[in-house]
Amino acid sequence: MINYYKNKNVLITGGLGFIGSTIAHRMVDCGANVIIIDNLNPLYGGNLFNIKDIANKIEIIIDDVLHSNKLIDLLKKANIIFHLAAQVSYIDSLNIPEMDLDLNARSTLNILELLRRYNPKCRIIFSSSRMVYGKVEKPLVSEDCPTNPLSLYGIHKLTSEKYLLMYYKDFGIPTTVLRITNPYGPRQQIKHSKYSLVGWFIRLAMKGEVIKIYGDGKQLRDYIFINDIVNAMIRIAETSLSVGEVINIGSGTSTKFCDMVKSVVRIVGNGSIEFIPWPADYEKVETGDIRVDISKLKAITNWQPEYSLENGILKTFEYYKTNIKHYI
Ligand SMILES: NC(=O)c1ccc[n+]([C@@H]2O[C@H](COP(=O)([O-])OP(=O)(O)OC[C@H]3O[C@@H](n4cnc5c(N)ncnc54)[C@H](O)[C@@H]3O)[C@@H](O)[C@H]2O)c1
Repeated sequence: MINYYKNKNVLITGGLGFIGSTIAHRMVDCGANVIIIDNLNPLYGGNLFNIKDIANKIEIIIDDVLHSNKLIDLLKKANIIFHLAAQVSYIDSLNIPEMDLDLNARSTLNILELLRRYNPKCRIIFSSSRMVYGKVEKPLVSEDCPTNPLSLYGIHKLTSEKYLLMYYKDFGIPTTVLRITNPYGPRQQIKHSKYSLVGWFIRLAMKGEVIKIYGDGKQLRDYIFINDIVNAMIRIAETSLSVGEVINIGSGTSTKFCDMVKSVVRIVGNGSIEFIPWPADYEKVETGDIRVDISKLKAITNWQPEYSLENGILKTFEYYKTNIKHYI
């Protein structure tokens, strides 16, 4: 299915951000007509530097996906939508409840309603999060595990998921929900610690700073490198087997948090580690050990992760060595 995307109109909401811009590069390589809508809100990860190599090959609309008067036209002509525009911090979501609702739930409903009216055959892929599971009962989490989100971010992502599944069931819109674990890699903003601790710690280590680990750092996480995520998303969008489905995207392996930090310090060759007690507001939303079951993803797409955590950290470090000034 190499040419599946050739000449297809691919709309990426939030396409100037970390995941969206990486998809945009791959879509250009596949010969798709790429359109990005992104409002470049400085609080989030949108960054024109992310698409500098493909800027003359794609259409970029700097606008708010919630209020753009171009949205109907964009949706009418789209064959595939990657709906990624979001506020991504689960910690921040507790301080900006209504904005989080708007970005992480209402924007999805708005797009689905417009698709129902104007373009019901359009394929839509939505980036949800492992955060919808909340505190898990057993570390290996499959898609049918209970969802008990601990943050408004998780609740609003779950709400979007339900809209997408309902619009598939009731109106036949080909939707897919992706529950992504802990992504990291080049093009991710590292202005603060709220998006990716891997990226943030690489930044701290590069500056020779102390990296603080809450508690004993033994909690398990499933870190996934951006190229592996995008490979999975591209395969998911081109198969009808994923329509109407919720699919986990993770690396399939889990790593102790403290081991991830040790790898960062070793690969960067700088920085140090200190263990400190959990701050109360973080402990409240701590999900415990997690490793997502990716057997559904593999069965549907034949996808396999290609990057170990060590390789991914090395690639990320190499990217920031040259480009860090654009991400801080
Ligand atoms: N980074 C993570 O840890 C993670 C984990 C799981 C799922 N996800 C999901 O993946 C998606 C992409 O995340 P990312 O890591 O690339 O984040 P990012 O911040 O790099 O990208 C999000 C993009 O959305 C844009 N955006 C925000 N509000 C907008 C609006 N109203 N109108 C138009 N554009 C708007 C931002 O400018 C930014 O470019 C999000 O839906 C996020 O919830 C991210």
